[in-house]
Amino acid sequence: MTEKEIHQHRKDEHLSLAVKYWKKGLETPSGLGFQDLRLVPQALPEIALNEVDLSVPIFGGRFDFPFYIEAMTGGSAHGDKLNEQLAEIAANQHLALAVGSQSIALKFPELAAGFARVREINPTGFIFANIGAGHGLEQAKRAVDMLKANALEIHINTAQELTMKENEGDRSFYWLENIHEIAEKLDVPVIVKEVGFGISRGIFEQLKQTAVSAVNVGGKSGTDFAWIEHQRGGDFELIGHGFTTVESLLEAQFAKTQLPVIATGGIRCAEDVFKSQILGAILVSSAGFILQNLIQDGPDKVEQILENWKSDLTKFYTLFGVKNLTELSKIETLYSADMRAFIEQRNF
Ligand SMILES: Cc1cc2nc3c(=O)[nH]c(=O)nc-3n(C[C@H](O)[C@H](O)[C@H](O)COP(=O)(O)O)c2cc1C
Repeated sequence: MTEKEIHQHRKDEHLSLAVKYWKKGLETPSGLGFQDLRLVPQALPEIALNEVDLSVPIFGGRFDFPFYIEAMTGGSAHGDKLNEQLAEIAANQHLALAVGSQSIALKFPELAAGFARVREINPTGFIFANIGAGHGLEQAKRAVDMLKANALEIHINTAQELTMKENEGDRSFYWLENIHEIAEKLDVPVIVKEVGFGISRGIFEQLKQTAVSAVNVGGKSGTDFAWIEHQRGGDFELIGHGFTTVESLLEAQFAKTQLPVIATGGIRCAEDVFKSQILGAILVSSAGFILQNLIQDGPDKVEQILENWKSDLTKFYTLFGVKNLTELSKIETLYSADMRAFIEQRNF
């Protein structure tokens, strides 16, 4: 295989293994989940369903809905095809979409056209470009230009890199300066995102000092890249590492970050979106769950799911007498004993 084919093969393996093991992340949770947050019922909500406005202000504009399709793929024939389907879904549903890492197209420029199809299919939608944190400003600009992207995601994935096979993964992780320089000089917003191991209080505090526009917690409880890389032959077995999405959202609160927080990691229903917002996320995104449904049942099924998320989320807002994002703080919450213990230890 050529170097390009090796890269493409890796992309395709990520896709098939993410689908194969999607349930594993949900079935073997370690750490706090959405069940640890209970909501006090509101039997007299004094609201009508049609008064609910799900839109959220972000990146100097507004998203119609507080969720979107998170970064997964691109750069192989299979990955490009899936991105095309996702772009159509995103366009039909008025949802934002992130492409997977464009590193492969920065290295092999002939692959850029495959990524660019996303913009052709969805000319006016909100699209996130995506690169790893080892890239510099020029590469960041190229990634954004490739898609005429509205924002750039920079993924931070130390645990994934270290669990990759010896000849594949990065082994040096000096990223902060790159992130700051890109965020400062790029003319679209920059989001720093984890890929499934969560973000702790100290990192929110560090990122607060940079020019980034938002942080995506990328928490544990959904896609597990340590397991996926182990299945691909990596011999560093890393089980249960990281903070869940719920824990990472609490950490963001402890850090008192002013930056918008995005919740990703194991999101699979409107209730997860709702509870993420109650825990402080302005936006929520989902990758593995969407992929699994796309592969198993096709794009129509994914559109149906996303339609349901919109109507279910509207009903959750109504159920608690909440008209919009700012009113979510009215909802009273109950924390499980585990959640209280976590808060006691971490909210120092
Ligand atoms: C098949 C697959 C490929 C992914 N590739 C990327 C990537 O290239 N860049 C990135 O930032 N995140 C990537 N991710 C991580 C997701 O964006 C997300 O952070 C992570 O999967 C956790 O969300 P989930 O539990 O909803 O899947 C990928 C996820 C999957 C399932």
